[in-house]
Amino acid sequence: MAKIIAGISSSHVPAIGAAIDNKQTEEPYWKRVFSGFEKSKRWMAETKPDVVIAIYNDHASAFSVEMIPTFALGTAAEFPPADEGWGPRPVPVVKGHPELASHIATSAILGGFDLTICNKMEVDHGLTVPLNLMFGSPKEWPCPVIPLAVNVVQYPPPTGQRCYDLGKAIRRAVDSYPEDLKVVVFGTGGMSHQISGPRAGLINEKFDKAFLDGLTKNPKALAKMPHIEYMREAGAEGIEMVMWLVMRGALDDKVKEVYRFYTVPASNTAVGHIILENAGKSAKPAARKKVGARKAAVRKSGKKAARKAA
Ligand SMILES: [Fe+2]
Repeated sequence: MAKIIAGISSSHVPAIGAAIDNKQTEEPYWKRVFSGFEKSKRWMAETKPDVVIAIYNDHASAFSVEMIPTFALGTAAEFPPADEGWGPRPVPVVKGHPELASHIATSAILGGFDLTICNKMEVDHGLTVPLNLMFGSPKEWPCPVIPLAVNVVQYPPPTGQRCYDLGKAIRRAVDSYPEDLKVVVFGTGGMSHQISGPRAGLINEKFDKAFLDGLTKNPKALAKMPHIEYMREAGAEGIEMVMWLVMRGALDDKVKEVYRFYTVPASNTAVGHIILENAGKSAKPAARKKVGARKAAVRKSGKKAARKAA
C-alpha cells in the first residue's frame, strides 16, 4: 500500500528561484539561505520518495484573477514551468502521477471533499522553488510530483481547519492506494511577510517560531487559528502558511521533527523550513543497510572489513 512517510514545509520565495537561476547561491546573502537546506537535500536523497504531493499556491500564473479555484489538484502527466514575466524558469518539466492523483480526486470527492481537477496546468515558483530547495537543480526531478494549488491570493482563502482536514482526506486517499509507494507531502509558502501597503516588509520571528512549534506539537490547536491572526501577526501574505496545515493534516498526530531552519530575510520574507517524519517511516533503507553491512562485516572479518563497509 502507499504510505505517507514524512512531510516538509518550506517558504517558496520567488527571489530564491532567481538566485538559483542567476547562479548567486554562493553570494553571502544567499549562502545564508541555501546553507540551511544542505541537510534537507541529504535527507531527501536518503529518503528517496516515490511521489511528492506538493501543496502550493499559484500566483496568477496558471489561473488568472478571473478564475481562482480554492483547491486545484493536478492530474496531468506533466506540468511545464510557467512564464511569470521573465520567461519560464530553467527547471525541468514536473512529471505528475496521474494514477495516484486520480485516486486522490476520487477518494476525496466521493468522501465529501470537493476538489477542482486540472488535466492541464503550468506551475510557478510556488512549486518549483521548494523542489529546488529539496532536490537541488537536477536535469530531471527525481520523482513524480502531484501539484495541489490552494487559493491564498484572493479573499476568502480556505480556513486553516479546512486545510488541515484536506490533509486528512489526502492521507485517507494515499492509505487506500494499492501500490507500494513512499509519499512525502510538501507544504509551501510563508513565513511572515507583507509585500505592499504601510506594513510592507513586516516580519514576525516570534510568531513564525511559535507556528513551527505548533506545527510539530499541537497542530489541532494551530488549525483553529483564524485568518485575522495570520494577517495581523504574519502580514497579508503570511496567510500562505495555512498551506502548511494541509501537509500536517496528512501526517500522524504525533510526528518526529528531524530538522528545522529559520532565517530572515530572503527578499522581504522570513524563510522557514521543517521536516517531520511519521513514526512508522521507513525512509532510510540505505542508511540501515549500511549499518547492517558494518555489523555483518565485524562478525565475519573483524575491524578491517568493518572499516571497508563504513
Ligand atoms: Fe507565494
